[in-house]
Amino acid sequence: MSRKHQTLGEFIIENQSSFKYTSGELSRLINSIRLAAKVVNYEVNKAGLVDVLGAAGESNIQGEEQQKLDVYANEKFIQTLVNRNIVCGIASEEEEDFISINSSDKNHQNKYVVLIDPLDGSSNIDVNVSVGTIFSIYRRVTPLGSPVQIEDFLQKGIEQVAAGYIIYGTSTMLVYTTGDGVNGFTLSPAIGTFYLSHPQIKFPREGIIYSVNEGNYVHFPQGIKNYIKYCQMEEGNRPYTSRYIGSLVSDFHRNMIKGGIYLYPTSTKNPQGKLRLLYECNPMAFLAEQAEGKASDGSCRIMDILPTQLHQRVPFVCGSISMVEKAESFVRASKSS
Ligand code: AHG
Ligand code: MN
Ligand code: MN
Repeated sequence: MSRKHQTLGEFIIENQSSFKYTSGELSRLINSIRLAAKVVNYEVNKAGLVDVLGAAGESNIQGEEQQKLDVYANEKFIQTLVNRNIVCGIASEEEEDFISINSSDKNHQNKYVVLIDPLDGSSNIDVNVSVGTIFSIYRRVTPLGSPVQIEDFLQKGIEQVAAGYIIYGTSTMLVYTTGDGVNGFTLSPAIGTFYLSHPQIKFPREGIIYSVNEGNYVHFPQGIKNYIKYCQMEEGNRPYTSRYIGSLVSDFHRNMIKGGIYLYPTSTKNPQGKLRLLYECNPMAFLAEQAEGKASDGSCRIMDILPTQLHQRVPFVCGSISMVEKAESFVRASKSS
């Protein structure tokens, strides 16, 4: 049962017992993410006043330029999870390898691993546009008390026990699921507390928004090109409205509330797609399905893909169920023609 104006802390305690593997560990883990989110939020809000804007001068493992806030958010989330001794392993978009925590301690009983995109949409920071953090939580598959292994991280999305995001926007929100619907909490900046503001969020079945970087249009596969033309066609509730922020978290959040579809297809520039399966697509897919939406790579369910690499990329089509199904039908038709 969720009550309006309940705090996130109260909500976590109240819902702990309904979680099927209850031991309090997951609740403590979500609490740690809540704390790190507040710290990062504080820093994001100051951007422009202090020297946190711009590039850090380094590239991450994927050859992408790291922004100072990418580095800061990465450190804060990792530090909080390590300090609270709450997980056995962490993988981050900004780190080449996964991090093993207390791996040589046989008494180490933590069973969860966390995967994070510490700062999503970081190219938007310098221009005061919303950014986010995405997280995904799994139960380890290797024995407790032994060092975590790559297979603890390379699990299918359907194995997630929780996932969510923080959006540092006009207000800051934490939105998450533990497999029992999606709930959104808004941070009261004066009090420093997240309050339940969006209980049981659901994607409208149908929407009128499509979100895609159309600058890449000429490089898209034919099925996606055809679907975009369909979105722009004058018929029924079309042409749809085009909205693209360039922060997955923000584009997803808007589409989930208003109804819409987000597409990041393969292109000649990004032959595998751009978004990362483990840090971006799986957590968003879990949220989407829990909110009665859908997420696929254009043909297959995202959460059924067996990952082979930590930083694997996939094409991503996600949003209101009937819009995603329509896009998939265009992909199918172009493959069979
Ligand atoms: P990140 O900042 O974590 O690297 O993610 C950026 C992602 C995603 O948030 C966004 O939707 C997409 O890249 C934007 O890509 P384009 O600039 O190619 O449209
Ligand atoms: Mn990202
Ligand atoms: Mn990022």
